Amino acid sequence: MTQLKNVFTAWAAGALLLACEGTPETLDASHELAYCHTQVCRSLDELRQAEGGQMDYNMMPRNVLKGEKQWNCRRADNPEEWCNGFWPGILWYDYEATGDETIRQEAERFTQQLEYLSRRPAFDHDLGFLIYCSYGNGFRLTGREDYRQVILATADTLATLYRPQVGTILSWPRNVGVFGGHNTIMDNMINLEMLMWASRNGGSRQLAEIAINHADKTMKYHFRPDFTSYHVAVYDTLTGDFLRGCTHQGLADHTMWARGQAWAIYGFTTMYRFTRSESYLEFVQQVADVYLQRLPDDGVPYWDFDDPQIPTAPRDASAAAVVASALLELADYVPAVKANYYVEAARKMLSSLSSKAYQSRKANPSFLLHSTGHLPAGSEIDASIIYADYYYIEALLRLQRVERGEALYPEYDEVK
Ligand code: GLY
Repeated sequence: MTQLKNVFTAWAAGALLLACEGTPETLDASHELAYCHTQVCRSLDELRQAEGGQMDYNMMPRNVLKGEKQWNCRRADNPEEWCNGFWPGILWYDYEATGDETIRQEAERFTQQLEYLSRRPAFDHDLGFLIYCSYGNGFRLTGREDYRQVILATADTLATLYRPQVGTILSWPRNVGVFGGHNTIMDNMINLEMLMWASRNGGSRQLAEIAINHADKTMKYHFRPDFTSYHVAVYDTLTGDFLRGCTHQGLADHTMWARGQAWAIYGFTTMYRFTRSESYLEFVQQVADVYLQRLPDDGVPYWDFDDPQIPTAPRDASAAAVVASALLELADYVPAVKANYYVEAARKMLSSLSSKAYQSRKANPSFLLHSTGHLPAGSEIDASIIYADYYYIEALLRLQRVERGEALYPEYDEVK
């Protein structure tokens, strides 16, 4: 049974308390969603102008680097690009927020560019990011049968990367040699949502078994005793034994890379939605709590929590957006006091992200500044990155529903 009513009551009491104490409750999700719509329309205009007035639907916005003013795009027909689902997903969320039919048509056109991914072998595990953010949201909002079929076919493709002898999905087939074994990265937790959804919507039950096995093994080996996560877990390809935890995009093997921890919070919350397994719920609270305890005051993490350059190290607004969205769902599953803690933490993150310090506003057409993609590789540092925008608009839509006292996923309330 959802705890949402408790969340709402606790949130309303918290808001009243803050108001009485003279702290203005400035975050207005509707206002920020209107800002997102303005930036979406501006992006569409600028993308069209960049192609001489005719939109090139094969080009997906990816980033605006520090100091730049325009989107850098990536080809949708390149299966090695992991971020191509976020722009169509943003358009679907903006359509959900506004009901604007022009945006829906643009969402459909960009989404369609990714259909080929359902008909080719997997390049790597990112198929969930690619297809569930685009087709998943499209199906949720339109119920289109052809969209459901694309998701089901892609879920089957993702499942081909599962290795039963290990019990997880192989994230990067191309990197088995580099890591010296079967590699699973924390980001892979996000791709499980597509498998769980597919298994409930016409796909094989095996897809859910794969997702659960993956999550269980990740829970067991991919974290340190203090619930901070490794970016990469390396397993023996033949025996499945855990060999080591290490990093790829974080500062060092022993540090907490902000977005990796964010993916973990989001991913295990999603797994609880589908399974109602208490072990996931208890675990994800530990993973969230260590993240929350170590945040800077504004709720937006430095790119890696252990960077000795803090407080001058770059931030990662994308991690803040991912976590804010996840906490708004997690709040739905825990008792009122904890729910209030998570909702208030999410509100603080979204308030910071919605301030002039983090919103791009006139600087460029994205929603947010100050994300960090891959610092050790010198890539996308202190930049606007498309996935930050995706999780920001998702979190704002979730906040609106929480504030209305609505459950986020009532259809799974009775799932055991
Ligand atoms: N590898 C996905 C990410 O940068 O989070």
